[in-house]
Amino acid sequence: MDDLNQLQEQIKLELIAARDPEALEQWRIKYLGRKGLMNNLFRGLGSMLVEDRAARGKALNQFRQMVQEAFEERQQALKEAQLQAELAAEGVDVTLPGRRPQLGHIHPISRTLRDIYRVFSNMGFQIYTARDVETDEVNFQLLNFPKGHPAREMQDTFHTTVPDILLRTHTSPGQIRAMRDYHPEPIRVILPGKCYRYEQVTARSEMMFYQVEGLAVGRHITFADLKGTLVAFANQLFGEGRKLRFRCSHFPFTEPSAEVDIDCISCGGKGCRLCKYTGWLEILGCGMVHPNVLRNGGYDPDIYSGYAFGMGPERIAMLLHNVDDIRYFYANDARFLPQFA
Ligand code: PHE
Repeated sequence: MDDLNQLQEQIKLELIAARDPEALEQWRIKYLGRKGLMNNLFRGLGSMLVEDRAARGKALNQFRQMVQEAFEERQQALKEAQLQAELAAEGVDVTLPGRRPQLGHIHPISRTLRDIYRVFSNMGFQIYTARDVETDEVNFQLLNFPKGHPAREMQDTFHTTVPDILLRTHTSPGQIRAMRDYHPEPIRVILPGKCYRYEQVTARSEMMFYQVEGLAVGRHITFADLKGTLVAFANQLFGEGRKLRFRCSHFPFTEPSAEVDIDCISCGGKGCRLCKYTGWLEILGCGMVHPNVLRNGGYDPDIYSGYAFGMGPERIAMLLHNVDDIRYFYANDARFLPQFA
């Protein structure tokens, strides 16, 4: 059987020399094909002496199996090499770790809104939502801003192409809507929503922003109720022990009116950059609902009284998280928002 041993050497050398699928196919035809060497060897059995035939047949079978296995192994190796080459050509590094999907989270303003809702709902306030697109009448006139009133100047307005239809400049028109809806029942609601002002966008003012309005209407509601409610609110939202300062102010739809400051949450009132060294931070405007406004909402001011307040959640979020530019909230900057995850 020396011939088989010699052949084995030759066959293996040629197999290694086959470096691509075409060369391998040539090799296969030569050795394992129908008219190939292997079949020739088997055909030789026919002319052998019967005594020798069994031993030769067994040797040939083993030989053929060995050659077949060597072929398959080579075929597999070539396939893998080709795959590697293709991946390398594509520039895909299969050892790179996968990308982690980014998980979303609640926007800091939504979170602040929810915090505000929680505090007021604990005090028995309901949430009432009014429309973003308002009439001049409800946004201004029924709130004591007649046409041409100078206080309109403080709320530069986005008008629409429809006369007297505008984007609300504050949530206060919701007071009228809520009163007309609830009348003659007593009211205790907060009115959250977006407001729009045709203003230069700066670090302190966006042209779209939220407000949360508060409104209570009933018999015997006094300024003391307003103060107590706002003190309780500030202590729950900003932490216990907050001091509030009510400064006399003016809004056409409340009388008397005040702006409310809390003692600076950063320095506690000593004076720092956040409070501009005043020790105080302004957080909202408020007052007793003006008799005209009560009347416009359907409530008789001789029987009913009420208070209202309005705050800016963006401003509150800026104070709570030490953010110094309101524009970050709506710029969708992936370096900013994930800090609130
Ligand atoms: N609407 C007022 C504003 O936009 C805020 C406010 C609301 C003041 C309710 C008093 C009462 O500035």
